[in-house]
Amino acid sequence: MDKFTIDGNRRLTGQVGISGSKNAALPIMAAVLASDGPLHLSGVPDLVDVHSLLSLLETLGVDSQYGDDGQLRLLVQTRQPHVAHYDLVRRMRASICVLGPLLARRGRARVSLPGGCNIGHRPIDLHLKGLAALGADIRVEQGYVIATAERLCGASIFLGGPCGSTVTGTCNLMSAATLAEGRTVIEAAACEPEVVDLGECLRKMGAHIDGLGTPRIEIEGVSQLGGATHRVIPDRIEAATLMIAAAITGGHVEIAPIRPDHLVAVREVLEQTGVRIETSTGCDSLASLVTTAPPVLAPTTLTALPYPGIPTDVQAQLMALLSRADGISVITDKVFPDRFLHAAELGRLGARIVREGPTAVIHGVPRLSGANVMASDLRASAALVLAGLAAEGTTTVRRIYHLDRGYERLDTKLNQLGGQVIRSEDKPVATPPHWAAPASHLAIDG
Ligand code: EPU
Repeated sequence: MDKFTIDGNRRLTGQVGISGSKNAALPIMAAVLASDGPLHLSGVPDLVDVHSLLSLLETLGVDSQYGDDGQLRLLVQTRQPHVAHYDLVRRMRASICVLGPLLARRGRARVSLPGGCNIGHRPIDLHLKGLAALGADIRVEQGYVIATAERLCGASIFLGGPCGSTVTGTCNLMSAATLAEGRTVIEAAACEPEVVDLGECLRKMGAHIDGLGTPRIEIEGVSQLGGATHRVIPDRIEAATLMIAAAITGGHVEIAPIRPDHLVAVREVLEQTGVRIETSTGCDSLASLVTTAPPVLAPTTLTALPYPGIPTDVQAQLMALLSRADGISVITDKVFPDRFLHAAELGRLGARIVREGPTAVIHGVPRLSGANVMASDLRASAALVLAGLAAEGTTTVRRIYHLDRGYERLDTKLNQLGGQVIRSEDKPVATPPHWAAPASHLAIDG
């Protein structure tokens, strides 16, 4: 297991590239299970989560070739397997994305429930409700979802839950409905760009889908999907993280490629803190974006909401930033109201944060000071790294494996901008024989 040692208080400057989106790539890769042709993807980030899904797809009969440059070729070789085993699914919640396409194309699926998570309660009831509405027979037995359907039938499905829609649930149903007989209407569908990217790839495979990016997606089922070539969208969460890295270190950083339309809410909240952001357009709606920090950050109030709101996946990083603002800020997370494990660890660096239910109140401090901290999940790790970059002295962030699940070479990118982040093996210290690893060592997110 690796750790980062960060020599903080360095201003980040320069240019850095943004990788393809993890949360778009994963459901797109899973969608190959619904198709009869090869899927050629580019912009697939080299992440632990991508490799975990490739291992799972391999057990489901998919042949893959992954190049260093983010090119991925997927092709189904055999349609016999239908079981996604616990040992592979437990590594990553996004494995649940295989359920819809597997069931739709093979008529049966047995997929392990994803299990515990460090960012709060994450049920899959909406996924199951949607598949049942499409006519699947669904049971949960011995920790597995067992789903069967000779052929799915189009239906009208309402996907709203207590915290809004569901991103991977919308992906699962959309992929499944492409092969259903007749018309499916998904109401309260997730509008996230990653859902749109999956929908566009499915269209290239021959699916008939309307309403992408709106809460009402309509799908006219087809009998077969073919191959496709598709470029995964840039990762808006990585982009936001690097914008915040510039802002928290008093820096000046250019990132590219990005989709400016995917970053509107993040841009708005950063501008409220005094950060200056300039965009220059390129081709294919892609652009580069320059973030310049103000001399002093202003506090603000924000709420993480489903798209187009401020993403919950940027909430922790914004908390790190606002811990340096000149005044009191308030952050509420309405998507994952318990996603605050990072608050206590930021406190070890000197941040003053009080949590009350789904809200955290951040009393900005003039400086943070380096400390030993422990990452609890993917975005919490990023927040701790950002705080460490801004802190005086040395910060050690342990359990960096969380970060490697969702950020491609973040240490290299930060060092390219003048940061000093050293990766090294975190050798286990000798522990008494009765010591047992806390449950969070095993938890997953993403
Ligand atoms: N929910 C339900 N029932 C369901 C599904 C979800 O009540 O059947 C609730 C959840 O508990 C949560 C809310 O609905 O309160 C939204 O959950 P959603 O299903 O949208 O989350 P997800 O699809 O499991 C994806 C991302 C997450 C991101 C969320 C929200 C992937 C692989 N994961 O998760 O990304 O936080 O959407 O935008 O796309 C990350 O990248 O760090 C990460 C956690």
